[in-house]
Amino acid sequence: KSDPRLQGISEAIRVVPHFPKQGIMFQDITTLLLDHKAFKDTVDIFVDRYRDMNISVVAGVEARGFMFGPAIALAIGAKFVPLRKPRKLPGEVISEAYELEYGTDCLEIHVGAVQPGERAIVIDDLVATGGTLSAAISLLERVGAEVIECACVIGVPDVKSNLWIMRFIPNDMPFRD
Ligand code: PRP
Repeated sequence: KSDPRLQGISEAIRVVPHFPKQGIMFQDITTLLLDHKAFKDTVDIFVDRYRDMNISVVAGVEARGFMFGPAIALAIGAKFVPLRKPRKLPGEVISEAYELEYGTDCLEIHVGAVQPGERAIVIDDLVATGGTLSAAISLLERVGAEVIECACVIGVPDVKSNLWIMRFIPNDMPFRD
């Protein structure tokens, strides 16, 4: 039942132990981007799912959501909206803070990028605690969008899953070590 493309995708992701610090198994999607078939399969899985869901906004989370989101947006006929780290967007923004392991960070969206009632999805490379996706959902809802789903290439298990932010993680990809 599992999508046959997932294994190749999973194998194309490099796992780098102890990066950026001791104890972290870094999931490196740059090797996936180098592999044309795996990269295309990844985008296609999302496109297959979202093409007929009347989605008009694909929001991508800086930085790695920018590597997948635009290709998906183009293929399904939606706009791409970057959700950026603070002080990167030049126009009027709204901001949403979120918790990190140590301290907080923040995502911003341009006011006017999304109209009330638009149907949105959020794309990122990976969900761990879900804090980043939660902030992304809040931002989109604050500008009146309806967030249909969030989707990531990699879901890290053994994290308390907050179901409503993980409505679609297209992997049976184990967290490999
Ligand atoms: C990583 C990853 C996700 C987020 C997931 O980004 O790309 O955006 O962390 O973690 P969470 O589910 O616990 O919130 P990072 O903050 O490293 O930013 P970067 O992609 O700009 O390096």
